[in-house]
Amino acid sequence: MTRSATKSSPVELETKSRVDDLISRMTLREKIGQMTQFAGQGGIPNNLRESIKKGLVGSILNQVGVDTLNEIQRIAVDESRLGIPIIIGRDVIHGFQTMMPIPLGQAASWNPKVVEKGAEVAAAEAARYGVHWTFAPMVDITRDPRWGRIAESLGEDPFLASRVGEAMVKGFQGKDLSQPDRIAACAKHFAGYGYSEAGRDYAYVNISENELRNIVFPPFKACLDAGAATFMTAFSDLNGVPATGNEFLTKRVLRDEWKFDGFVVSDWDSVIQLITHGFSENEKEAAREAVQAWVDMEMASRTYLQNIESLVKEERIPMENIDRAVRAILSVKEKLGLFERPYTNPELFPVNGNEKYMDVAKEAAIQSCVLLKNDYQTLPLNRDKIKSLAVIGPLADDGFEQMGTWTFDGVEEWCQTPLQAIREKAGDEFEIHVAKGVDTTRSKDKHGFAEAIDAARKADTVVMFMGEEAILSGEAHCRADIDLPGVQNELLREISKLGKSTILVVMAGRPLTLDQTRHYVNSMMYAWHPGTMGGPAIADLLFGDATPSGKLPVSFPKMVGQIPIYYNQRNSGKPASHDSFTHIDHIPSRATQTSVGNTAFHMDAGFEPLYPFGFGLSYAHFEYYNLRQSKDSFTKKETIEIQVDVHNPSRYQGAEVVQLYVRDVAGNITRPVKELKGFKRVNLDPGETKNVSFKIKPRDLSFYDRNNKLIIEPGLFYFWVGGNSNAELGGKFHLIENLDQNQNNA
Ligand code: GLC
Repeated sequence: MTRSATKSSPVELETKSRVDDLISRMTLREKIGQMTQFAGQGGIPNNLRESIKKGLVGSILNQVGVDTLNEIQRIAVDESRLGIPIIIGRDVIHGFQTMMPIPLGQAASWNPKVVEKGAEVAAAEAARYGVHWTFAPMVDITRDPRWGRIAESLGEDPFLASRVGEAMVKGFQGKDLSQPDRIAACAKHFAGYGYSEAGRDYAYVNISENELRNIVFPPFKACLDAGAATFMTAFSDLNGVPATGNEFLTKRVLRDEWKFDGFVVSDWDSVIQLITHGFSENEKEAAREAVQAWVDMEMASRTYLQNIESLVKEERIPMENIDRAVRAILSVKEKLGLFERPYTNPELFPVNGNEKYMDVAKEAAIQSCVLLKNDYQTLPLNRDKIKSLAVIGPLADDGFEQMGTWTFDGVEEWCQTPLQAIREKAGDEFEIHVAKGVDTTRSKDKHGFAEAIDAARKADTVVMFMGEEAILSGEAHCRADIDLPGVQNELLREISKLGKSTILVVMAGRPLTLDQTRHYVNSMMYAWHPGTMGGPAIADLLFGDATPSGKLPVSFPKMVGQIPIYYNQRNSGKPASHDSFTHIDHIPSRATQTSVGNTAFHMDAGFEPLYPFGFGLSYAHFEYYNLRQSKDSFTKKETIEIQVDVHNPSRYQGAEVVQLYVRDVAGNITRPVKELKGFKRVNLDPGETKNVSFKIKPRDLSFYDRNNKLIIEPGLFYFWVGGNSNAELGGKFHLIENLDQNQNNA
């Protein structure tokens, strides 16, 4: 089954590229077929078989099973007129059968290398099952944890999302996309989806072009620069022009400005939804608008198949636009090696779920966990001192839930839960008392409280596993109240009354509002949904066999009313400060109206998140000192180096993510109060000191100005270096036009 798939004689191919040759021989109907992605139906029903034979199926999504997919491919290669192979797409978002942490958790590792390895494993496992193309990475910037898809995102910051997104592209695609264990990536959802109004999925988004260019686009451009083979349009109505019919996005920016030469696929039915948006009169108009916007392939809906022929005949779609789309699609198939190797041979691959893959998943989970609180150094637990441990909560022993959202093919049986891993660690060294307390995270039934309290009473230390079931985040699963669901807080409060050393491990697909929760526990670790190896990872961290190093990729609000709250905000003309803020409870009754102290805060919540972007504790301790910079001012032709020494005076080994933030003090437009411009992970043994260096180039300070032109603007900049976005150690420098301007800044 290895015959070349295009039935073209070698002679013909000498004169033309295979793609040109095919396009020259394809009928319009066959071209439209390449632009059509069918939704998988499980087997190969007759209608699908017939459509494939007619060359009307360019791609299929959500169909797995290597035998079925090889048979589908055989029909395309052997029984269609031109034998063009089909590209098989699948949502391999954070693993295939071996699940990595959810993407938001992977972003919390701030470790592109670990993320890349996870994507490599995902690609190898998916490819072994006949998948050629994943609809990932999702790089939608979002500042709204009510939005269910924050779980799938890489957080609130363009720089971090860019580094993590490009790592995923590299992991999926490798250096040679034609390798059997690599799959095409898809940067999605272009663009603006993460700004859905009120965190309600699919809602209207209103984003200025300037915000798009400075905040929303950079991670997409990073994925493109990393070689992403495809893009996917968003469901969103962006400023009145839905992303799937938006020439500004998919033609002007993506092709004209960024020279993207891959192909763009719509989201599921997002072409036909142009009617629902109130953008297109009917399916024919929807097809025309989407093709006009250079959306090359239609996912699931069939408006292209049913309308493009007549649109071309009526000269309402130029034929060269069809040829351009088909060329892009065939070129990706060619890069994937599908013409030479249309079939999947599982024997070429290691078995899925092997030990190496599990090790990658465990390391990813370890590095994604964020230690948010650790009073009295309650963690790490000391196995020699513990006599009995209570393990309580609905998520202590649930492999399905710990895999998180977008887990189509995850194998629950492979999951190792925290309870299993803790039992393994305990051996017969200490007793373990187990109780769920509540049946599910949403349960309002308190009948299990007594058993849980009893288990806690018997133990000297209590570890609680709470949070959100997997289904409470992800697509279309948004929450208006983002406290711990159900009666979990009440259970925590009851347990806390026992006065035991209590640790909470939270598994969730979003930041939760933990302002109340945190008071019930001594220590709190955020594990997101940690994936297949979440249990061993968490157990290693709890017992000090690993040290937490994760940092928040998104701000954690105190309460939902603070949303949106994010670190790289604008200063406003009246920024809040601890001096200006007065809590609602401290305002005297009958206080008279005054303009003194009126600044940007909520009286009942202040102006800061509960936990800031970039925050995360360690068992080690990190001291920053000896900050120095290579110069006080530099021209556009120079770079500036900033160095700092980081010391670990503690008795624990630990990894610190050293972060560099910069503020452009006055700009052609107002600039964020700080922006992440670099981060480096540094491992420090007890007592060790290491030097960390950052080099800032002028283009690192560039931004789109009030005319949406990319500029590098001279001026004064502040910078800070530290372990989170509230870092205080810093300095300043000037970017100058040229050397003689230096005198003015002296
Ligand atoms: C969707 C999602 C998209 C996904 C696609 C295919 O509804 O928005 O992210 O890749 O369908 O499952």
